[in-house]
Amino acid sequence: EKGGYATFMEKEIHEQPHAVGDTLLGRTDIEGRLVLDDMSITEDQLKDVDRIIIVACGTAAYAGMVAKYAIEHWTRIPVEVSLAHEFRYSDPIASERTLVVSISQSGETMDTLMAVKHARELGALTLSICNTHGSTIPRESDAVLYTHAGPEIAVASTKAFLAQITACYVLGLYLAQLRGGTFADDAQSVMKELHEIPAKLEELLGRMDRVKEIARFMADTRSVLFLGRNVGYPVAMEGALKLKELAYIHAEGFAAGELKHGPIALIDAGQPVFIVVPGPGTPHELHKKVVSNIQEIRARGARTIVVAEDGDEDVVPFADEVIRVPATSPLLAPLLTVVPLQVFALHLSSAKGLDVDQPRNLAKSVTVE
Ligand code: M6R
Repeated sequence: EKGGYATFMEKEIHEQPHAVGDTLLGRTDIEGRLVLDDMSITEDQLKDVDRIIIVACGTAAYAGMVAKYAIEHWTRIPVEVSLAHEFRYSDPIASERTLVVSISQSGETMDTLMAVKHARELGALTLSICNTHGSTIPRESDAVLYTHAGPEIAVASTKAFLAQITACYVLGLYLAQLRGGTFADDAQSVMKELHEIPAKLEELLGRMDRVKEIARFMADTRSVLFLGRNVGYPVAMEGALKLKELAYIHAEGFAAGELKHGPIALIDAGQPVFIVVPGPGTPHELHKKVVSNIQEIRARGARTIVVAEDGDEDVVPFADEVIRVPATSPLLAPLLTVVPLQVFALHLSSAKGLDVDQPRNLAKSVTVE
């Protein structure tokens, strides 16, 4: 049942090219319209949406954070991300022009379900991105976009995360298309690139030997930091969460720009830091800025493990380790950059002799508030 892999998590990591590919499959009709499942929201209602709130927990919320950058850029519709358990209690503002998007692998997370119910009470449109057919959250929503990751058994989410991000991109690109004009043109070219991701993931998964080695050497590590910017920031958070869940190691993800506002004080000799580097094509010179962050922390003794695009030579002088990922457009990069972080957490956990698929104190779906 584990298909020759030692753990479900490892199997699921290797299923990621399919999780992305299958989630993209059959998503548009002949006229290029998004095909949503169980849809009771009209195209006119979607055209009228002036605000999006994403509600989710844990890894699904990090998918939501990636989505915020992408959807805002492609559509210019303001998007906020609310942890589902905070949403209901924050006296949220919503109207019939607000689209509340819930993201949940299981479709049974109580915190997320309660947020969706609250959104409906406020009169908002609700759309669920979910991996489990027939589960509660899609049933309670006006529309569903199912992710096709297949059943996820390991408690730590991997392939569902990639499928969630993919579904969010599809939604964002569809909304962009509805806006028409240059929004629609851009959407077409991004969609083309999105279809190239499964093959790039396949290639990336074949290059993970060094990451596994790094993980094995780090079995005694007590703390690991993760830095990223823009869409790399939620990836850093997700890398840290995976490590907490699986290896019971203290880990924190930061926005790299925040470093000088406090966290840099944590850096001393030998502190391992993963840096998710934005591709050199990222706007606003973010690439250059992150490279200088790497330089700064290295000068203070950090051990820098750099996740960078193929061909990015700027990182080399300041990296103790470079993990290469195939190049893609900046907003799509999380589908690739998160993979080495998943593999790292998995192999560190098994190097410590821990139960990868069933970490202590955790359940696959959290059905209590
Ligand atoms: O089933 P859901 O997507 O609603 O679950 C949300 C979180 O509980 C889940 O992503 C959790 O953070 C995972 N254990 C992460 O690996």
